[in-house]
Amino acid sequence: MNLSKINAAKAALDYVKDGMCIGLGSGSTVKEFIRLLGEKVKAGLKITCVTTSFDSRMLAAENGISVTEPDSIGEIDLAVDGADKVTKTALLKGGGGALTREKIVDYNAKRFIVIVDESKVIEGQLEGDVNLEVLPFAAPLIMRKLKQYNPKIRMSKAKLGPVISDNGCFIIDCNMMKIENPKELERELKNMPGIIENGIFTQFDQIIVGNENGFRIL
Ligand code: A5P
Repeated sequence: MNLSKINAAKAALDYVKDGMCIGLGSGSTVKEFIRLLGEKVKAGLKITCVTTSFDSRMLAAENGISVTEPDSIGEIDLAVDGADKVTKTALLKGGGGALTREKIVDYNAKRFIVIVDESKVIEGQLEGDVNLEVLPFAAPLIMRKLKQYNPKIRMSKAKLGPVISDNGCFIIDCNMMKIENPKELERELKNMPGIIENGIFTQFDQIIVGNENGFRIL
Protein backbone atom coordinates (compact mmCIF):
# COMPACT_ATOMS: atom_id res chain seq x y z
CA MET A 1 0.00 0.00 0.00
CA ASN A 2 1.47 3.32 -1.05
CA LEU A 3 0.06 6.02 1.20
CA SER A 4 1.43 8.90 -0.89
CA LYS A 5 -0.36 7.70 -4.01
CA ILE A 6 -3.55 7.11 -2.03
CA ASN A 7 -3.41 10.62 -0.54
CA ALA A 8 -2.93 12.20 -3.97
CA ALA A 9 -5.87 10.16 -5.31
CA LYS A 10 -8.06 11.13 -2.34
CA ALA A 11 -7.37 14.82 -2.92
CA ALA A 12 -8.39 14.52 -6.58
CA LEU A 13 -11.59 12.76 -5.58
CA ASP A 14 -12.81 16.01 -3.98
CA TYR A 15 -13.21 17.48 -7.47
CA VAL A 16 -15.62 14.76 -8.60
CA LYS A 17 -19.26 15.81 -8.53
CA ASP A 18 -22.48 14.02 -9.34
CA GLY A 19 -23.33 13.99 -13.06
CA MET A 20 -19.76 14.59 -14.24
CA CYS A 21 -17.99 12.85 -17.09
CA ILE A 22 -14.58 11.74 -15.79
CA GLY A 23 -11.49 10.93 -17.85
CA LEU A 24 -9.57 8.13 -16.16
CA GLY A 25 -5.80 8.24 -16.73
CA SER A 26 -3.47 5.25 -16.40
CA GLY A 27 -0.88 3.94 -13.98
CA SER A 28 -0.53 2.90 -10.36
CA THR A 29 -1.56 6.27 -8.86
CA VAL A 30 -4.68 6.41 -11.01
CA LYS A 31 -5.36 2.84 -9.94
CA GLU A 32 -5.88 4.19 -6.39
CA PHE A 33 -8.15 6.92 -7.76
CA ILE A 34 -10.25 4.35 -9.64
CA ARG A 35 -10.54 2.22 -6.52
CA LEU A 36 -11.74 5.18 -4.42
CA LEU A 37 -14.06 6.35 -7.21
CA GLY A 38 -15.54 2.85 -7.35
CA GLU A 39 -16.39 3.10 -3.65
CA LYS A 40 -18.24 6.38 -4.28
CA VAL A 41 -20.12 4.86 -7.22
CA LYS A 42 -21.18 1.95 -5.05
CA ALA A 43 -22.41 4.53 -2.52
CA GLY A 44 -24.60 6.18 -5.18
CA LEU A 45 -22.43 8.66 -7.12
CA LYS A 46 -23.62 9.01 -10.72
CA ILE A 47 -20.88 9.61 -13.27
CA THR A 48 -19.85 8.60 -16.77
CA CYS A 49 -16.24 7.69 -17.51
CA VAL A 50 -13.89 7.42 -20.47
CA THR A 51 -10.57 5.64 -20.06
CA THR A 52 -7.09 6.12 -21.49
CA SER A 53 -6.00 2.47 -21.69
CA PHE A 54 -7.26 -1.10 -21.65
CA ASP A 55 -5.66 -1.31 -18.22
CA SER A 56 -7.81 1.49 -16.79
CA ARG A 57 -10.85 0.11 -18.55
CA MET A 58 -10.35 -3.24 -16.85
CA LEU A 59 -9.69 -1.59 -13.48
CA ALA A 60 -12.85 0.49 -13.83
CA ALA A 61 -14.89 -2.63 -14.56
CA GLU A 62 -13.36 -4.42 -11.56
CA ASN A 63 -14.41 -1.49 -9.38
CA GLY A 64 -17.99 -1.35 -10.65
CA ILE A 65 -17.51 1.76 -12.78
CA SER A 66 -19.12 1.64 -16.19
CA VAL A 67 -17.09 3.09 -19.02
CA THR A 68 -18.15 4.59 -22.29
CA GLU A 69 -16.49 5.78 -25.52
CA PRO A 70 -15.92 9.40 -26.60
CA ASP A 71 -18.79 9.20 -29.13
CA SER A 72 -21.29 8.62 -26.31
CA ILE A 73 -20.35 11.56 -24.09
CA GLY A 74 -20.59 15.32 -24.16
CA GLU A 75 -17.64 17.16 -22.64
CA ILE A 76 -15.16 15.56 -20.27
CA ASP A 77 -15.57 17.58 -17.07
CA LEU A 78 -12.50 16.30 -15.27
CA ALA A 79 -9.50 14.18 -16.21
CA VAL A 80 -7.29 12.69 -13.49
CA ASP A 81 -3.98 11.20 -14.56
CA GLY A 82 -0.54 10.32 -13.22
CA ALA A 83 2.90 11.24 -14.56
CA ASP A 84 6.45 9.91 -14.60
CA LYS A 85 8.14 13.29 -13.95
CA VAL A 86 6.68 16.68 -13.14
CA THR A 87 7.85 20.27 -12.93
CA LYS A 88 5.51 23.20 -12.31
CA THR A 89 5.06 23.69 -16.05
CA ALA A 90 5.50 20.32 -17.77
CA LEU A 91 5.11 16.57 -17.36
CA LEU A 92 6.73 13.50 -18.82
CA LYS A 93 4.31 10.64 -19.37
CA GLY A 94 4.15 7.36 -21.21
CA GLY A 95 6.00 5.03 -18.85
CA GLY A 96 3.00 2.76 -19.18
CA GLY A 97 2.74 3.27 -22.93
CA ALA A 98 -0.67 4.93 -22.73
CA LEU A 99 0.44 8.44 -23.69
CA THR A 100 -1.69 8.93 -26.82
CA ARG A 101 -5.06 8.20 -25.31
CA GLU A 102 -3.94 10.01 -22.16
CA LYS A 103 -3.19 13.18 -24.09
CA ILE A 104 -6.44 12.93 -26.04
CA VAL A 105 -8.54 12.58 -22.88
CA ASP A 106 -6.49 14.91 -20.64
CA TYR A 107 -6.23 17.77 -23.14
CA ASN A 108 -9.92 17.55 -23.99
CA ALA A 109 -11.07 17.78 -20.39
CA LYS A 110 -12.41 21.03 -18.93
CA ARG A 111 -10.12 20.43 -15.98
CA PHE A 112 -7.04 18.19 -15.94
CA ILE A 113 -5.58 17.24 -12.56
CA VAL A 114 -2.27 15.41 -12.25
CA ILE A 115 -1.71 13.10 -9.27
CA VAL A 116 1.81 12.06 -8.28
CA ASP A 117 3.94 11.31 -5.24
CA GLU A 118 7.05 13.26 -4.23
CA SER A 119 9.38 10.91 -6.15
CA LYS A 120 8.08 12.38 -9.44
CA VAL A 121 8.81 16.02 -8.66
CA ILE A 122 11.80 17.69 -10.33
CA GLU A 123 12.95 21.07 -9.05
CA GLY A 124 14.15 23.08 -12.02
CA GLN A 125 14.38 21.90 -15.60
CA LEU A 126 12.41 18.92 -16.92
CA GLU A 127 14.58 15.89 -17.68
CA GLY A 128 14.15 12.20 -18.32
CA ASP A 129 12.90 9.79 -20.95
CA VAL A 130 10.65 11.19 -23.64
CA ASN A 131 8.33 8.40 -24.80
CA LEU A 132 6.92 8.41 -28.30
CA GLU A 133 4.10 6.40 -29.79
CA VAL A 134 5.05 5.69 -33.37
CA LEU A 135 3.52 4.04 -36.41
CA PRO A 136 5.56 0.81 -36.87
CA PHE A 137 6.19 1.64 -40.56
CA ALA A 138 7.83 4.94 -39.58
CA ALA A 139 9.87 3.62 -36.63
CA PRO A 140 13.22 3.13 -38.46
CA LEU A 141 13.04 6.60 -39.98
CA ILE A 142 12.20 8.24 -36.67
CA MET A 143 15.00 6.30 -34.92
CA ARG A 144 17.43 7.66 -37.52
CA LYS A 145 16.14 11.21 -37.19
CA LEU A 146 16.40 11.19 -33.39
CA LYS A 147 19.61 9.15 -33.11
CA GLN A 148 21.38 11.72 -30.92
CA TYR A 149 18.81 10.93 -28.20
CA ASN A 150 19.62 7.22 -28.08
CA PRO A 151 16.15 6.05 -29.16
CA LYS A 152 15.12 2.52 -28.23
CA ILE A 153 12.07 0.57 -29.31
CA ARG A 154 10.42 -0.63 -26.11
CA MET A 155 10.54 -4.41 -26.00
CA SER A 156 7.91 -6.64 -24.49
CA LYS A 157 8.74 -8.64 -21.36
CA ALA A 158 6.06 -11.30 -21.70
CA LYS A 159 6.17 -11.87 -25.43
CA LEU A 160 8.79 -11.78 -28.13
CA GLY A 161 9.35 -8.52 -29.96
CA PRO A 162 8.27 -4.94 -29.37
CA VAL A 163 5.56 -3.66 -27.09
CA ILE A 164 2.43 -3.08 -29.18
CA SER A 165 0.40 -0.21 -27.74
CA ASP A 166 -3.38 -0.16 -27.24
CA ASN A 167 -3.47 1.55 -30.64
CA GLY A 168 -1.36 -1.06 -32.46
CA CYS A 169 1.78 1.09 -32.49
CA PHE A 170 5.40 0.91 -31.26
CA ILE A 171 6.72 2.88 -28.30
CA ILE A 172 10.13 4.53 -28.73
CA ASP A 173 11.91 5.78 -25.61
CA CYS A 174 14.40 8.64 -26.08
CA ASN A 175 16.75 10.14 -23.55
CA MET A 176 16.58 13.86 -24.20
CA MET A 177 18.44 14.89 -21.02
CA LYS A 178 17.56 18.44 -19.99
CA ILE A 179 14.55 19.80 -21.83
CA GLU A 180 14.95 23.55 -22.10
CA ASN A 181 11.67 24.36 -23.76
CA PRO A 182 9.09 21.58 -23.22
CA LYS A 183 6.32 23.38 -25.14
CA GLU A 184 8.50 23.78 -28.21
CA LEU A 185 9.79 20.18 -28.08
CA GLU A 186 6.26 18.85 -27.61
CA ARG A 187 5.19 20.75 -30.75
CA GLU A 188 8.30 19.76 -32.72
CA LEU A 189 7.87 16.03 -32.00
CA LYS A 190 4.16 16.25 -32.75
CA ASN A 191 5.00 17.60 -36.19
CA MET A 192 7.21 14.66 -37.19
CA PRO A 193 5.34 12.37 -39.60
CA GLY A 194 4.90 8.93 -38.09
CA ILE A 195 4.97 10.08 -34.46
CA ILE A 196 1.41 9.66 -33.27
CA GLU A 197 2.05 11.37 -29.93
CA ASN A 198 4.82 12.27 -27.50
CA GLY A 199 4.94 12.07 -23.71
CA ILE A 200 5.61 15.76 -23.05
CA PHE A 201 2.47 17.31 -21.56
CA THR A 202 2.35 21.07 -21.09
CA GLN A 203 -1.38 21.67 -20.60
CA PHE A 204 -2.83 20.90 -17.20
CA ASP A 205 -4.60 22.74 -14.40
CA GLN A 206 -3.12 21.40 -11.20
CA ILE A 207 -0.53 18.98 -9.86
CA ILE A 208 -1.41 17.26 -6.59
CA VAL A 209 1.64 15.79 -4.88
CA GLY A 210 0.73 13.14 -2.31
CA ASN A 211 2.88 12.30 0.70
CA GLU A 212 2.55 10.05 3.73
CA ASN A 213 0.69 12.71 5.72
CA GLY A 214 -1.49 14.30 3.07
CA PHE A 215 -0.76 16.29 -0.05
CA ARG A 216 0.47 19.60 -1.43
CA ILE A 217 -0.28 21.51 -4.61
CA LEU A 218 2.81 22.06 -6.74
C1 A5P B 1 1.12 5.79 -18.58
O1 A5P B 1 1.50 5.76 -19.89
C2 A5P B 1 1.84 6.89 -17.86
O2 A5P B 1 1.78 8.12 -18.50
C3 A5P B 1 1.38 6.99 -16.44
O3 A5P B 1 0.42 7.98 -16.29
C4 A5P B 1 2.55 7.31 -15.64
O4 A5P B 1 3.52 6.34 -15.95
C5 A5P B 1 2.28 7.33 -14.15
O5 A5P B 1 2.18 6.05 -13.63
P1 A5P B 1 2.39 5.73 -12.09
O6 A5P B 1 1.30 6.44 -11.38
O7 A5P B 1 2.27 4.23 -12.03
O8 A5P B 1 3.74 6.19 -11.72
